[in-house]
Amino acid sequence: MTLDLNRRRLLQAGTLAAMAAAVPGFARTPAFDATTTAEQATAGLDLRGRTIVVTGVTSGIGRETMRVLALRGAHVIGTARSRESGEAACAQAEGRATPVVLDLADFDSVVAAGKAIRAFDVPLDALVCNAGVVLDDLQQVRGIEKTFVVNHLGHYLLTRHLLDRITAAPQGRVVVLGSADERNAPPGGIQFDDLSGASWEARYAHSKLANGLFSLELSRRLAGTRATSNCVTPGHTRSNILRNVGNRYRDDARSVAQGAATPCWLAASPAAAGINGAFYRDFAPAPQSDMQRDTAMAARLWSESDALVRAWLPD
Ligand SMILES: NC(=O)c1ccc[n+]([C@@H]2O[C@H](COP(=O)([O-])OP(=O)(O)OC[C@H]3O[C@@H](n4cnc5c(N)ncnc54)[C@H](OP(=O)(O)O)[C@@H]3O)[C@@H](O)[C@H]2O)c1
Repeated sequence: MTLDLNRRRLLQAGTLAAMAAAVPGFARTPAFDATTTAEQATAGLDLRGRTIVVTGVTSGIGRETMRVLALRGAHVIGTARSRESGEAACAQAEGRATPVVLDLADFDSVVAAGKAIRAFDVPLDALVCNAGVVLDDLQQVRGIEKTFVVNHLGHYLLTRHLLDRITAAPQGRVVVLGSADERNAPPGGIQFDDLSGASWEARYAHSKLANGLFSLELSRRLAGTRATSNCVTPGHTRSNILRNVGNRYRDDARSVAQGAATPCWLAASPAAAGINGAFYRDFAPAPQSDMQRDTAMAARLWSESDALVRAWLPD
């Protein structure tokens, strides 16, 4: 069930008040804002004993998210498209970081990654669906527009393979990297009648709307469990995501340390434990389009995604 904004704020405030009473030192936590870094947002957290999956750790926000969560003691399973790039990224983390190969554009690779992660045989305290692309031209995977496949469908399939491990954790969390750009998705939202991308543009915005709707529907499905699902926009962050389109970030874009702050906080902070079904930016609920709040579209996206990857779903 979607929480309205006020209720979310009340819940968050209630959680914060409870934490202030229960966690030594919590009340001294400074107010977090757009300038807060991931290290600051997780200062004092002891994540030893937790296992957190982060997709896309070779670059940008994912690399910083892995670095900081491992620094705080979590075992981070970091995914990368090749064994070499994953090993190189994980070797830079201070703490325990283990690479797993995952190409979200290849459903067989997603299944293999799911198996590799399950082989650790531990509950998953968080899954951060971070990896993403911006493409400058129309590309397709099995006839489906590729940005949608990489940013949404691959993560949908991976999550389906890991969901029982997430709900087995004391308080498992799925954190999906979305974007405020979701509001620029094609009119009508997800293009269910033509996912080839041939008849519409705004491919990145479309995929980010899918990220938000997937997170929303997952939060509804997790109601009654200990697990939660939230979507987060990191804000304009100086990463490598525009590498394929030759654009540059505005001068006011934030650092990856800042872009990774709210994702890390949602994945690991006790203050975020009660938040479910939200779209966050800078540690607070963020404005979003009516499309991204559309529970019927979210439910349909789940069932259509299920149909698209049925051959790769777990039994
Ligand atoms: N940066 C921003 O301003 C901004 C704003 C809003 C939302 N976001 C979101 O934040 C997330 C992280 O982006 P970023 O800015 O950190 O971008 P980035 O620096 O380009 O990092 C993207 C990561 O995704 C991986 N990736 C790309 N294609 C993949 C595939 N087919 N399978 C598996 N992994 C793949 C990349 O691996 P390789 O190194 O192998 O390419 C890389 O590790 C994305 O979901 C993005 O949409 C970013």
